[in-house]
Amino acid sequence: MDKELLKSTAQKIVAPGKGVLALDKSLPSANKTLEELGIEATEENRRRYRELFIGTKGIGKYLNGIILFDESFRQKDSVGTPFVEIIKDEGILVGIKVDKGTVPIPETEGEKFAMGLDNLDARLKEYFDGGANFAKWRSVFPIGKDIPSRVAIEINADSLALYASLCQQTNIVPVVEPEVLYDGDHTIEESFEATLHVLKGVFNKLSAYKVDLDCLVLKTSMVLPGKLSNQKVSDKAIAQATIECLKEVVPPEVAGVLFLSGGQMPSDATKHLNEIAKLEPLPWEVAFSFERAIEDPALQIWRGKDENVKKARVVFEETLKNNVAADAGEYKN
Ligand code: 13P
Repeated sequence: MDKELLKSTAQKIVAPGKGVLALDKSLPSANKTLEELGIEATEENRRRYRELFIGTKGIGKYLNGIILFDESFRQKDSVGTPFVEIIKDEGILVGIKVDKGTVPIPETEGEKFAMGLDNLDARLKEYFDGGANFAKWRSVFPIGKDIPSRVAIEINADSLALYASLCQQTNIVPVVEPEVLYDGDHTIEESFEATLHVLKGVFNKLSAYKVDLDCLVLKTSMVLPGKLSNQKVSDKAIAQATIECLKEVVPPEVAGVLFLSGGQMPSDATKHLNEIAKLEPLPWEVAFSFERAIEDPALQIWRGKDENVKKARVVFEETLKNNVAADAGEYKN
């Protein structure tokens, strides 16, 4: 384990003034996205969808990292240049999603377990040799009556901690992503409690597995009232609740905190990030690592048509600029 390499990679992932693009939809999610846009779900169309983003010139100005999925890690652009090479040429770090999606935990109220530990050591080695600098593992936690349960937190936290430890042994920085879901009608107070419990469980396990926190990045959801809740909460209050929760449980040694958008309207995710940044200085670097909130506006323009690529890329770059501004607390909407 090369601690200096890990530490400098972790710092680069969250270096100020840029963020991380999560371009790592699993096959079923990527297919669903394409089908919703009326595009046939084929490997070639998934490749074109990724090239729309990866092939945009100059995105190294806004991005420290791009997270890929196994299929895209091996794909090339339309003239045959590997995506990994294009990303590196922009000076952007390459990430790879390594969990294998979630399955229900039997006898629970809709709770889930993230799969993917089988063979993980060998897969990480292959990704490192192929150019990956960091990896991501996502576990999900719905909020409901008596959930997240102790069982769901324990099993997912164990996997996240073992994954993080294996990553560090392979000189890959782990991005540990316990996502508390925004679906549902819960209040912001319930979201705060759930996020706190989940993060406590995760950091207890990270400590038990002796994971180096300064060589690790946390990727987390914001503390929000549920999508179906009628509770009205200001952007500022969301930022304050999110940071209050994180400060209670995320040790200052952690290299940085990335936020996912979680299905919020893209503009809401950006505004919330902006309010979070206004609370700086914080114990850790913070930055965005959105997927839907960055991709969706461009995908709506692209819709699978080559003639729309140019316009969609302009929108993609605009969205990146807005989030970079928000990351500095300077977004004006
Ligand atoms: P969203 O920003 O769409 O929530 O995606 C981020 C992510 O990486 C989910 O795993």
